[in-house]
Amino acid sequence: MDIELYHDSKYGNGARVAEEFKRLAETKGSNVNIHHVREAGSKNLPRADLYVFGSPTHFGKATRGIMRFVKKLELPPGTKYAVFGTFSGAAPDKKTGKMPSEEELEKRRRTIPMIDEALRSKEMAKVAEMRFFVKPENLKGPLEDGWQKIVEEFVVAILGK
Ligand SMILES: Cc1cc2nc3c(=O)[nH]c(=O)nc-3n(C[C@H](O)[C@H](O)[C@H](O)COP(=O)(O)O)c2cc1C
Repeated sequence: MDIELYHDSKYGNGARVAEEFKRLAETKGSNVNIHHVREAGSKNLPRADLYVFGSPTHFGKATRGIMRFVKKLELPPGTKYAVFGTFSGAAPDKKTGKMPSEEELEKRRRTIPMIDEALRSKEMAKVAEMRFFVKPENLKGPLEDGWQKIVEEFVVAILGK
């Protein structure tokens, strides 16, 4: 499968996910090209069997860079895509010591639904999604242990092997 992957990693965690994704998918016979949206235009994308989009989460949202990119995409209806977000792992509130509820966490993790919404309006076909977490002690990472296993799950969800 030919895959073009576009991400907007700021601190390098999403870029590491992308590199591992490429490495694994290529061991399974696919071909993956990685692009940072900063250096990519939304028009005339290389042809691919599937596109992957990845974004960090800033203040609960996908980044401005990835949203600008996906909103301007010109790909035919039915084009397949997969999406991943990177997030902070859950941690107790610094003042109260209480863990946030699922509902509170979801409000700070709107990244994937935002990208989906932009692509739904273009009638693109979603194949898979995956979440990756950085350790809660530091917003800049590193990724939580075991992240490579999650990349593997993401690859299997897309390639079916
Ligand atoms: C200014 C700022 C705001 C952030 N806000 C959130 C947030 O609302 N929810 C969340 O899960 N992570 C938040 N994070 C953590 C990011 O998710 C994390 O930095 C990012 O996933 C790392 O990916 P990258 O290394 O590819 O940039 C924030 C980080 C920064 C720097």
